[in-house]
Amino acid sequence: MSIVLSPSLYPAIASFHPVYLVCGRLLGDDPPENADFCPPIRLSMSFIEIRNLKKIYRKSAVNVSAVNDVSLDIHRGEFVAIVGKSGSGKSTLLNLLGGLDTPTSGIIRVDGTDLAAGGREGRVRHRRHRVGMVFQTFQLITGLTAIENVELALAFGGVNRKDRKRIALALLEQVGLADRADHRPTELSGGEAQRVAIARALANNPDIILADEPTGNLDTQNGEAILALLQRLHVQGRTIIMITHDPDMAAVAQRIIRIQDGRVLDETPSFQNPQV
Ligand SMILES: Nc1ncnc2c1ncn2[C@@H]1O[C@H](COP(=O)(O)OP(=O)(O)O)[C@@H](O)[C@H]1O
Ligand SMILES: [Mg+2]
Repeated sequence: MSIVLSPSLYPAIASFHPVYLVCGRLLGDDPPENADFCPPIRLSMSFIEIRNLKKIYRKSAVNVSAVNDVSLDIHRGEFVAIVGKSGSGKSTLLNLLGGLDTPTSGIIRVDGTDLAAGGREGRVRHRRHRVGMVFQTFQLITGLTAIENVELALAFGGVNRKDRKRIALALLEQVGLADRADHRPTELSGGEAQRVAIARALANNPDIILADEPTGNLDTQNGEAILALLQRLHVQGRTIIMITHDPDMAAVAQRIIRIQDGRVLDETPSFQNPQV
């Protein structure tokens, strides 16, 4: 059995039957063979569980509660937008999910595993294999070419030297930039640089993409192209969590979570907003 379904139906299906997702196609009970860029994903109800998460920054005499008692469930294969004013704690939350930072208290479980359980090494593994991060300012290494930026992420992920170039080129192809492989970041437009950053985020085949205002530094046309790319990654089965200021960008997500003063202000019901 192999059918293509809207991601909005995944949780409903997963709740009564084990299903596997490969490149956006739902398959039956048995895990299928691994495909190059689309590992089989077993759908489940709650993929990322966030419980009473707090992050308090202590600066001299002042305590800033950047994330203040956040509890959320994110489903596998969901596309979530996080919106809120500047300083409301969105980036802090995303960095905690990415294992770039540690919470003051509370729990993040990914696929049933407590992110804190593996200590520092566990977080490094999480960053290298489970999540791909995309930032507003691209964060490419300026001294390296596009392909070298992607290769570096592959090297950190433990990919053999001989395989790196081939995989990096294939990833650049996926984002439509194979012909810019030897360009340095300064020789790329903002939209191109962000596409390289997305190729790098995909290097170790993560099933979660965390994007912090990925279109914030781009014009409308390039912003839309990046959004379309994120949607494609979503349709392939990845879980996307995207911070944005732009209501039009947020509107493509299946759920919009509003953050204010480090707390969840409200959210649209999950999967209320199915993608076309
Ligand atoms: N490393 C840090 N040290 C101290 N305070 C921080 C740090 N990072 C963020 N903050 C503070 O935490 C709050 C939330 O910041 P942030 O998560 O960046 O918000 P947003 O991404 O919504 O703009 C802000 O008040 C910010 O000043
Ligand atoms: Mg931010």
